[in-house]
Amino acid sequence: MTRPPALAITAQDAEAVAAHTGVLAVLAEPGAKLDPAAGRVNRAMRGAVERAVASEAFSKLDPGGALRLDWPGGLQARAVLVLRLDRKADAEAARKAGAAVGAAMDKDGALILAGAHRGAAQMALGALLRAYAYTDQRSKPGDPPGKLSVMVTKPEAVEAEMAPLLAVAEGVYFTRDLVNSPANVLTTKAFAKHVKALKEHGVEVEILDEDAMEKLGMGALLAVGQGSESPSKLAIMQWKGGKKSAPTLALVGKGVVFDTGGISLKPGAGMEDMTMDMAGAGVVAGVMKTLALRKAKANVVGLVGLVENMPSGRAYRPGDVVKSMKGDTIEVINTDAEGRLVLADVLWYAQERFKPAAMIDLATLTGAVIIALGHENTGVFANDDALADAMLKAAAAEGEGAWRLPLGAGYDKQLKSRHADMKNTGGRPGGSITAAQFLARFVKEETPWVHLDIAGTAMRSTDTPLAPKGATGWGVRALDRLVRDKFEG
Ligand code: BES
Ligand code: MN
Ligand code: ZN
Repeated sequence: MTRPPALAITAQDAEAVAAHTGVLAVLAEPGAKLDPAAGRVNRAMRGAVERAVASEAFSKLDPGGALRLDWPGGLQARAVLVLRLDRKADAEAARKAGAAVGAAMDKDGALILAGAHRGAAQMALGALLRAYAYTDQRSKPGDPPGKLSVMVTKPEAVEAEMAPLLAVAEGVYFTRDLVNSPANVLTTKAFAKHVKALKEHGVEVEILDEDAMEKLGMGALLAVGQGSESPSKLAIMQWKGGKKSAPTLALVGKGVVFDTGGISLKPGAGMEDMTMDMAGAGVVAGVMKTLALRKAKANVVGLVGLVENMPSGRAYRPGDVVKSMKGDTIEVINTDAEGRLVLADVLWYAQERFKPAAMIDLATLTGAVIIALGHENTGVFANDDALADAMLKAAAAEGEGAWRLPLGAGYDKQLKSRHADMKNTGGRPGGSITAAQFLARFVKEETPWVHLDIAGTAMRSTDTPLAPKGATGWGVRALDRLVRDKFEG
């Protein structure tokens, strides 16, 4: 498992700055005087920082953007990054500025001279998140990024602010590793093992096997996994950081470790990306890790359905009718619409057992959500406006794109089946909405519920501000914030 680079938050130390051999970062605001730390670097570089700040290139930078000066004379550093960061910059700009450092950082590490800037901790988080690299599958992984140092005027205060953010970085790294892992490595069993490792941090973990799920009547989930050699599992993670009487939030994740489509086989081109079809479960596991590491004062239960969708002589087929734990029967039209079958049983189980005050599921559920929203926004569906608004607000604060889409009885009609209580696909029109509508049938009226379709946001083919290409960890930060805002204290 990949861990974030080591982090040191210290007081200003001019000698350490002069001796630093990695990337050095200073902050500057166009038109304003350089802060004392940047001023010292500027003098060592005979005014180069000032000239950079006065340049046209610098004036064109977005907040949080960076100008890179290589091999600065008068210093040992290999590069100086001049970060455009106004004194009043928001958290997002601060994270972005930090990310520029994270992207540039190598084995010699990086040093950010953040002075008295109030965004220092967010800068550090941005740098840690962007410095992620998935190297587990390389025979020669190379050197991991070195230490990140941040020099500030008030190290204790920044350190205190940083503690929960470090927990966030750990959670995001965990999620990204899970999502980036190939399916021969991250089998259902291996995923369950990673979940069990959260016990070490105080999370209570149970793994239900196929026999247990059979007894519970989870015919929908089990049908999806029956064609695979890997046994299906339901992993349950409980973090009891709140008072006994405090409400429980349930987080539910789709954990299809590989989605071939099953008998309704997917086309070959691009199928390798379906290693990420467990991203919903990966985010749930990452959030649980973050909550445990920062000892969140909240009661949160994470439930992830772990299955592999394979074609074989034992696989479920189009036309099969399966029975869900709820008791509703489902006609399988397309075995590639498997995520909703998994979630149907996990959502129902979550409500029956935990009676959550709110329930949020995450799933790489539909290709259609990519057609609707591209890769910039997760599709948000909800039966409760207050919970939807809280979710959207938390996502916005973290700079994680999220956009609400509708539900409605008209869409639900598309799920009418000739033989069974419903079918598992609603045709092409509004494909993400009919998928959400299917899930809604397994949500009790009294349960406030949000469904997050992360098919477009869980993995990116290009670098993004806070992540190299590949798994993003979308949602770990938003959900951590939602817990902080709505379920703590
Ligand atoms: N895992 C896929 C959805 C997906 C597509 C995730 C692209 C990430 C990127 C899901 O199981 C699926 O196959 N959905 C089908 C549903 C259809 C058969 C109704 C789809 O989107 O085509
Ligand atoms: Mn599928
Ligand atoms: Zn899928």
